[in-house]
Amino acid sequence: MNRLNRVRRTSALRNLVARTRLSPDNLVMPYFVREGRKMKQPVSAMPGVFRFSQDELLKEVEQLRRAGINSLILFGVSGEKDDSGANAYSENGLIQKAVRVLKKNFGDELVVITDVCLCGYAKHGHCGVLKNSPQSTVHSPQKNYGLIDNDKTLEILTKVALSQVRAGVDIVAPSSVMDGQVQAIREGLDKNGFGDIAIMGYSAKFASGFYGPFREAADSAMQFGDRKSYQMDFRNSDEALREIEADIQEGADIVMVKPALAYLDIITKAKEKFAVPLAAFNVSGEYAMVKAYAQSAEAEKELAIEILTSIKRAGADIIISYWAKDLGRWLKT
Ligand code: PBG
Ligand code: ZN
Repeated sequence: MNRLNRVRRTSALRNLVARTRLSPDNLVMPYFVREGRKMKQPVSAMPGVFRFSQDELLKEVEQLRRAGINSLILFGVSGEKDDSGANAYSENGLIQKAVRVLKKNFGDELVVITDVCLCGYAKHGHCGVLKNSPQSTVHSPQKNYGLIDNDKTLEILTKVALSQVRAGVDIVAPSSVMDGQVQAIREGLDKNGFGDIAIMGYSAKFASGFYGPFREAADSAMQFGDRKSYQMDFRNSDEALREIEADIQEGADIVMVKPALAYLDIITKAKEKFAVPLAAFNVSGEYAMVKAYAQSAEAEKELAIEILTSIKRAGADIIISYWAKDLGRWLKT
């Protein structure tokens, strides 16, 4: 008989043969940054997640580091929105200020990543600038197909990335998923003397229902239409590989699959095909789902570890997760 149970008999035996291990080094903690002081505002759709003002973020990151996590990704929650998302590239914008403060305090010991997108800074909530105003008679407000001006958006995204890099960020992560976004940003950074700053492409980013809680947290919900004309169709997987390949050709240093849990097949295929560091974004809806289901802190911990281990087992090198800080603590004990 084939007795596979032999090496499952004790915890020590199971540890001996375990082939997937989570490490704090590969985890990235997402943070929402807002204006103001002494603000640590709960996000109702995501228990345990907050919007931090800069001063509170600093304290929080001290805790994060004590948990053994040294990487984070920042999202701005902007109260100042316009049609083109211009506040996303203001030299004194909230993300730029937060990056400066974090880098002043933690220097190279902390990897600071910034999301590069317009949805949180544009009134309409889309990830790019619109070709026509929502009132346009040419495009129905209900249908945003063809409504985004891809190439004009690239110019803005490049400005956003540059402003963040000038503030001291280590990695910029364009999430707008415009065609050519990695190339445009790479050229912009290189031309301005930032050839050594890395780009993490949100390469295979699917139009997903799992982003809902994030949009509440970042106040980035679109006012009309959907994101299906720029984010990927979840019925496709070869297309995800083409997206990833394109990003690598354009100069992405790290590529990403997002969301993670319903897309483990994509993660595995990407891992098999490309020799580039692969990140997976364990998104807000995946987190909120477990929060709603878990009956205790212990149950949540078990579920989170199972989920994050599965994402790693599927092939992700790097995991962005709202559990990153918790996991850092759990791994210590
Ligand atoms: C913005 C952005 C989104 C997420 C990361 N960057 C939302 C979206 O595309 O609507 C989702 C992250 C999450 O759900 O945790 N482009
Ligand atoms: Zn966006």
